[in-house]
Amino acid sequence: MATNYDSLVRELAHLKVEYQGESSWYEHGSFMIWLVGTLKPDTFVELGSHYGYSYFAACQSIKSNGLQTKAFAIDTWQGDEHAGFYSNEVYEIVNQVNTEKYISFSKLLRMTFDQGLAEFADTSIDLLHIDGLHTYDAVVSDFNSWKRKLKDGALVLFHDIHEHRDDFEVNRFWNELKKEYKTFEFLHEHGLGVLKIGTKTTPVDFLFSSEMQQEELNLLRYIFRSSGLMTSIESQLRDKDKIIETYYSNWHKEIETSARHEDAIKVLNTIINNIKNSLSWKLTKPIRRMKSSKD
Ligand SMILES: C[S@@+](CC[C@H](N)C(=O)[O-])C[C@H]1O[C@@H](n2cnc3c(N)ncnc32)[C@H](O)[C@@H]1O
Repeated sequence: MATNYDSLVRELAHLKVEYQGESSWYEHGSFMIWLVGTLKPDTFVELGSHYGYSYFAACQSIKSNGLQTKAFAIDTWQGDEHAGFYSNEVYEIVNQVNTEKYISFSKLLRMTFDQGLAEFADTSIDLLHIDGLHTYDAVVSDFNSWKRKLKDGALVLFHDIHEHRDDFEVNRFWNELKKEYKTFEFLHEHGLGVLKIGTKTTPVDFLFSSEMQQEELNLLRYIFRSSGLMTSIESQLRDKDKIIETYYSNWHKEIETSARHEDAIKVLNTIINNIKNSLSWKLTKPIRRMKSSKD
């Protein structure tokens, strides 16, 4: 195989995702940047963006490589049974990043995947990322309904092909697709499948080479995973900083609250002492004594 691993490693070493959103996609970030920069798609569509990590990794690549790509993120931004249901704040964050950094080529389509179909002509998409609900029925429906929108030579990414918890069953569908299409798969970070539609040549065809030996395949996976790990570690460190910041800010609040409590106790003690030292308190002492002896 004619892949130049030295230059691939050198290229990947510089690819870090700038965006900091929460995700279970971190370790694939540099692959997405590389893939978009190499494939140079005219149209990229993502089904399921949540905080936008995978989507903004693609947008970062479009921008930094000066590509003409049009990008679309489709999501209800309400969540689902696997990602959890979430508040409107998530959409507001994603929309703000999109407006500030990528609005000239990127559009957020807040709707269901089925509603999104009407926005695209048949055979118009070069790169599709499917990352919605991960049940078997949902992923089958996502792929089958969007298939007609794909160009000859288009690539489809499937996240979670190696996630088996609960009713995650992208793996089941992926095993069926592998029999029919040319595919490449990453095993790490819940697994990411890359599938090629049709026969048209693309700049990333080496991924699907039938001549690739197991050792070469392992090396390729290792190279992409290593570069993705750096981005992942950085993101987790940033999260860790956030956790520490939150901890300290809560701790300060508690100290302030307890300081306020101490101040209040001091004021109350002063009031009680003033009452006890007051003439009326002293004059009414016999009455209180009588009352307590009756009780
Ligand atoms: C796993 S998350 C996406 C993660 C994201 N790609 C990342 O990089 O972290 C799945 C998202 O798909 C959305 N979703 C699931 N099914 C959907 C549907 N049928 N139509 C629109 N959005 C859907 C959910 O709202 C959720 O935000």
